[in-house]
Amino acid sequence: MIPINAPQIGEEEIKAVVRVMKSGILTHGLGAGPMVTRFEKAFAKFAKAKQAIAVNTGTSALHLAIAGAGIKRGDEVILPSFTFVATAEVIAMVGAKPVFVDIDPETYNISPEKIEKAVTKKTKAIMSVDLYGLPADMEPIKEIADKYELRIIEDSCQAHSASYKGKPPGAFADTACWSFYASKNMTTGEGGMITTNNDETAEKMRFMRSHGEKEKYKSLILGHNYHMPEIQAAIGYIQLMKLPKFSAKRRGNAKRLSTKLGKTGKLQLPKEPKGFRHSWYLFTVRLRGAKRKKRDKVVETLRKKGIGAEVYYVNPIHLMPYYRKFGKHRLEETEKAAEQVFSLPVHPGVTRKQIDFIGESVLRDIG
Ligand SMILES: Cc1ncc(COP(=O)(O)O)c(C=O)c1O
Repeated sequence: MIPINAPQIGEEEIKAVVRVMKSGILTHGLGAGPMVTRFEKAFAKFAKAKQAIAVNTGTSALHLAIAGAGIKRGDEVILPSFTFVATAEVIAMVGAKPVFVDIDPETYNISPEKIEKAVTKKTKAIMSVDLYGLPADMEPIKEIADKYELRIIEDSCQAHSASYKGKPPGAFADTACWSFYASKNMTTGEGGMITTNNDETAEKMRFMRSHGEKEKYKSLILGHNYHMPEIQAAIGYIQLMKLPKFSAKRRGNAKRLSTKLGKTGKLQLPKEPKGFRHSWYLFTVRLRGAKRKKRDKVVETLRKKGIGAEVYYVNPIHLMPYYRKFGKHRLEETEKAAEQVFSLPVHPGVTRKQIDFIGESVLRDIG
């Protein structure tokens, strides 16, 4: 099986893990050990942000961003429903209400035009998602946020090395949240990072990462244990150094697959609009006009051939049993996309020959 994504781990990461284990320093009381601190500094530079805060998962990063922004019970946060559940989960975790807004059918990202209609007196923030690695259209989102004095939290968990108007994720947001889950463009197995230019919020989130403590056993605010272990940080630092190479490989694979699949009009290919740079975390196509059953059949046939095609996301969040309580309105474009899209492998481990095989198989299977 050619998996949809696969961690790219080399000797350098293995040696780094051994070094940490031999050092005897596996973690730090406040989650700020030497490997974590080095990784944070390098990541802040990469994201062109003043501050980077390493945590144990991308979900924790999103939780701290929401809690750090002071969002609480009774507040509302606007977000897309066509994303991984963690984006909505953290809003519900602080007792606030996720307000789901429809997507743009070409980019699959939140539609800025539809955001403004969802703003109420209770709205405190917009959570944009850079879905599949394509940045959301941040300029109009920022205009709305400025007009209504809302925070922007960018879920850039899939967007390592993406950019918008020449700037990395987070440049138009108050905070950006990243994931280093095993499938991501760079990985620590599990892991996350928050980047921000706001020193005050950063300090608050650092306390929250470690039981609300600035110093041990003296909690100033409500916190958690979201420490990133030292082994993970050592892996992350090396993965970050390798990221440009990984990204170039993904980009090359995505380009080759686009050329192959461009021969048919039956597919909507992934877009990279002018001014946007895709991270190619997922290469997602739409089977135009298809019903769920037909799309599922294509995915099944590809999988039988050893191509790890996957659907992201089969169930939009607003239709999930737990999240239905937040509103029953339809999101037409979201629901249509969930029925028609599927993703194909372009990760750095996929060879040119495999890309050609994937392209030819898809063309044959869609008929
Ligand atoms: C869009 C999005 N948001 C949030 C997350 C959560 O990240 P993690 O799995 O590291 O908790 C992920 C990744 O899994 C994601 O893809």
